Amino acid sequence: MIQTLEWTDAGVVFIDQTKLPTEETYVTCATHEQVADVIRNMVVRGAPAIGVAAAMGVALGVKNSRAQTVAELKPEFDQICDLLAKTRPTAVNLFWAIRRMTAKFASLSAESVAHIQRELIEEAKRMHAEDIAANMAMGRFGATLMPASGGVLTHCNAGALATAGYGTALGVIRAAVAAGKKIHVYADETRPFLQGSRLTAWELMKDGIPTTVISDNMAGAMMAQGKIGAIVVGADRIAANGDVANKIGTYTVAVLAKENGIPFYVAAPLSTVDLQTADGSGIPIEQRNRREVTHIGGKQMTPDGVGIENPAFDVTPAKYVTAIITERGIAKAPYVESLKKLAES
Ligand code: MRU
Repeated sequence: MIQTLEWTDAGVVFIDQTKLPTEETYVTCATHEQVADVIRNMVVRGAPAIGVAAAMGVALGVKNSRAQTVAELKPEFDQICDLLAKTRPTAVNLFWAIRRMTAKFASLSAESVAHIQRELIEEAKRMHAEDIAANMAMGRFGATLMPASGGVLTHCNAGALATAGYGTALGVIRAAVAAGKKIHVYADETRPFLQGSRLTAWELMKDGIPTTVISDNMAGAMMAQGKIGAIVVGADRIAANGDVANKIGTYTVAVLAKENGIPFYVAAPLSTVDLQTADGSGIPIEQRNRREVTHIGGKQMTPDGVGIENPAFDVTPAKYVTAIITERGIAKAPYVESLKKLAES
């Protein structure tokens, strides 16, 4: 299995996703500030991977603390969490992970600093293992929804690289292939950051799963030509009503799916479900640097000074979502009820 991120004695080790697919290199973060940087710079990306990275960042910051007492450690802990919380706004897994580490810290407030340090490292490692287990469970549920053969389209990268391992959308595809389904993946290249062509294609090639990369504007034609039997994507945040924030371009794919009568599935762990946000209008959308749009591979593609938009995510209204695959089962509309039931089960 691809090691996206790992806790080691030297620090948190990340595969550098900005260098893939041509270079497989690893970055070691020895401080929580470095973890914040790799989240911001997209060395690590994908909602569940960002969550686990943040948990490990918190554990690292606490491990490096020189505080002698819990009273000294607490303000440092809060600063560590604040810094990590400011890295990326959309994926709710980041805030979920920080909340979980904060609750763990609070439960240990009567213990020694050394004990808290050990326990927070264990908690972060547990979240890493739980994420992989959740993905495998999603795979088992989701595989039943995949066609026996033919094309399945995905957008962005919701694979091993976007999680602690195995993947959400790609976990569903991996499980379907393991169950004997003859799936051919169509991977949208996913402009501007190219997570589909660089990362999804790289992972699936490693696994020997047949994959074709298409530019984003080809997806509609592939659907109309009958080449796509189902679509499965991940999510960065799912509102209580089932509206799904995911990589920019997902909304376009979902609308085209409906037009062409193709099921549109979202695979995401319950740590991505935000019951506090009623609908998609309340989800903050990250705006990224214009250079991601103006340049490809360092080459300028647009005239100097032209206006540029670069929202990293869009919101797909729940009415376009056929089902949401979670680690506890499959949710269908009305999502206000089905998601709440799964989250509380
Ligand atoms: O900007 P990114 O690469 O972090 O965006 C990633 C996505 O949009 C993924 O589809 C989502 O996080 C789900 S990953 C299992």
